[in-house]
Amino acid sequence: MAFTELPTAERTLPKASGLEGVVVAETRLSHVDGERGELFIAGSRVEDLALAAPGQFELVVERLLELGAGKPEPRVRERLGQARVAAFARLQRLGYALSLPDAMDALLAATAQGSAGSDALGVLGALPVYVAAGARQRAGRAPIAPDATRLAAQDFMTMLGLPESAGRARALEAYWVTVSDHGLNASTFAARVVASTGSDVMPCIAAALAALKGPLHGGAPGPVLEMLDATTGTEPRAWLETELAAGRRIMGMGHRIYRVRDPRALVFERALARLEREDPTQSATVARLAHARRVEHAAQALLNERHPDRPLCANVEFYTALLLEAVGLPRELFTATFAIGRCAGWLAHIEEQRHTGRLIRPAARYVGHLPH
Ligand code: COA
Repeated sequence: MAFTELPTAERTLPKASGLEGVVVAETRLSHVDGERGELFIAGSRVEDLALAAPGQFELVVERLLELGAGKPEPRVRERLGQARVAAFARLQRLGYALSLPDAMDALLAATAQGSAGSDALGVLGALPVYVAAGARQRAGRAPIAPDATRLAAQDFMTMLGLPESAGRARALEAYWVTVSDHGLNASTFAARVVASTGSDVMPCIAAALAALKGPLHGGAPGPVLEMLDATTGTEPRAWLETELAAGRRIMGMGHRIYRVRDPRALVFERALARLEREDPTQSATVARLAHARRVEHAAQALLNERHPDRPLCANVEFYTALLLEAVGLPRELFTATFAIGRCAGWLAHIEEQRHTGRLIRPAARYVGHLPH
């Protein structure tokens, strides 16, 4: 566990620490090299995994779960399909949860209500059903039943009522594979803390969903699109300066670990380029991508001027926004869609944590009053 190499006297962290650089777990699931800008998931480079053949998301789920649990995970595609069908059958019970106006609140409530007692694949299979049914319910439409024989990405798009497109389904799959795991990020840590208490799968995932909702973690891609909208047809630098002068952060820029451009941004650019080639209806994406690159360069230059010692580059959320927009998803579903992909990693981390058999229970230094 934490600080094993450190002498006791050095165990206290600086005030207001975000635990950066502190190693609190060992994992076989993914490795983030922030200096070189590399990400390895289940032993493979993210760029080699993400743009592979259809069915790759199911394969990555299988590999991550197998690594996490230390035993083979059979028939993942089939079991995920069955879990979607089972979750759809439970939807009638989730009326209030699904009608919550925020997609992440609805997903969290539906998961808590509908997936108590489910196993790992049961929870993962249910998430796209809850996200799609919630989106349709908020729009006053009936849910669309899943098809257990399809791949998860295709089926999610069908359940949302989006037009059939193999290219877009592949792009969504590339997105899910890319975000499936990323070291000990805040939501994964939250899941591991709950798993360490001996809790079952659903509460661990509920904790992770709650952490992912925050704009500093998974809530940034919607605001990135708002930034791209606000700067279209204008000089981005002036808009960015106004944001910074108002004390706001530039969404999609900066990262706790990466000191260079997030490697996932490049994967998404490649997935977008492939989508443009495969799907002629995507012509608007070309101009959007060119504009996004202009905004990224302007933001990076401006942030570098302000923080010359702290490289602040585009993170995963910057091009997530463009990719999910091109897939045809409404922006209010971006974070919930992120949650479906990241759930693969959460589940594997839960298994890994359980194997340690150790409660995560750090300490705080008391700085309050004591009676005399
Ligand atoms: N826009 C403007 N300034 C930023 C910034 C951004 N996106 N990211 C960091 N900074 C600034 C901070 O204000 C801070 O300035 P200061 O030293 O003058 O106070 C400095 O850079 C260091 O930032 P810090 O908060 O220590 O970095 P961190 O490691 O905690 O931050 C993030 C990581 C992701 C939370 C941060 O970069 C951020 O808020 N980004 C925007 C939200 C986002 O895109 N989230 C998705 C992450 S994948």
